[in-house]
Amino acid sequence: MTSADRARARMVDALVRGGRVRSAAVEEALRAVPRHLFLPGVEIDAAYADEAVAVQHVDGVATSSASQPSMVAIMLEQLALAPGQSVLEVGAGTGWNAALMDRIVGATGSVTSVDIDADLVRSAAVHLAAAGSPDVRLVCGDGARGHPPDAPYDRIVLTVGSADVRPEWVAQLAPGGRLLVPLAVRGSQLSVALDLGSDGVLRSDSVRGCSFIRLRGIGAGSDMRARPVEGLWVDVPEAASPDVDPALVAAALDAPGPVLTAEVPLGASDIWDGFGFWLALTEPGTVRLMADDDHDVPPSAVALAAGPALAVVAGGTTSSLVRAFGPGSEAVAHRVVAALQRWVAAGSPSTADLEVTVVPRTSEPTPAGPARVDKAYSTVLLGWPSPAAP
Ligand SMILES: C[S@@+](CC[C@H](N)C(=O)[O-])C[C@H]1O[C@@H](n2cnc3c(N)ncnc32)[C@H](O)[C@@H]1O
Repeated sequence: MTSADRARARMVDALVRGGRVRSAAVEEALRAVPRHLFLPGVEIDAAYADEAVAVQHVDGVATSSASQPSMVAIMLEQLALAPGQSVLEVGAGTGWNAALMDRIVGATGSVTSVDIDADLVRSAAVHLAAAGSPDVRLVCGDGARGHPPDAPYDRIVLTVGSADVRPEWVAQLAPGGRLLVPLAVRGSQLSVALDLGSDGVLRSDSVRGCSFIRLRGIGAGSDMRARPVEGLWVDVPEAASPDVDPALVAAALDAPGPVLTAEVPLGASDIWDGFGFWLALTEPGTVRLMADDDHDVPPSAVALAAGPALAVVAGGTTSSLVRAFGPGSEAVAHRVVAALQRWVAAGSPSTADLEVTVVPRTSEPTPAGPARVDKAYSTVLLGWPSPAAP
């Protein structure tokens, strides 16, 4: 056994222990496919750490990476691949995920993987050959259009964040097929596995929080990760909210105000997947922040912006803090505390409990209950089964 084999075994053991890997097929693929061969030049320990490894940057922002192994495992479980299926991946990147899927669908199945960047496609081809997965079909193109020549697909998976559910993907799905897409919803991203019904409606089978690099090309949405100052990233909602201006968010952080305490414990996953998403659905000014040590906020935080005022949620094991920044921010912090109390009263739901329905863009009235997000091509309805509905 080489040091790479040992590191890979440790990585997979941890993913199984942590409940990220649940099926024998996903476990076998992760054990078999050598991730380090998709990351030449990266130390073995780093190649098998549970971290995304960026392989391309433009203006300091990562534009391609080998995704975090735990997220890859979660998405492979959401995808529920079976031998013999045909799969389209949008976002070939290093080729690692394509190799994993190729392993699961086997010789009777097929994997087509598209990337918009010719250099990445070239290097993915080298990695796939080195790893012994020569059957993956690599295509350089804009995956927003899917890849009609190999359609229909049993599964279409995006490993890149999308602001919308494009009609091309729905049209290229086989009847009953599944689309797995990291979908921008009000400044958050949800990895949603959507099954295509015979009525043309997509209904979620499972939902998880995620954070992917955004689509480039014709599918590039208005949702974006802004970097208003060094060391601070602000995820801006796809439907521009007049409340959210990344420059004002950065300025607010220089003007700390009062700190409110809410008698509600909040762990990282509550902030990421639970209350953070509840706030996003109920308050259009919700933003996600990522900050380095030079900023006085948690490294990954959820906040409510209202022009120059900002209220940042900081978790805790017995109670949580809501920290106000900027002029007029105390009232905004009180709004966050009130939302926190409503979330607890609703049973502290998380994204995993969400039901998501996607229909072609419609002007039909929304059924009572779900929140509605209108995109350019689709209307997304989101709700928690009652009594949790916000
Ligand atoms: C997070 S990386 C994908 C990781 C990859 N699945 C792996 O296993 O290494 C996202 C990829 O999406 C690609 N991408 C962005 N916009 C795209 C588009 N419109 N069509 C196809 N690929 C795109 C980027 O070039 C990048 O390589």
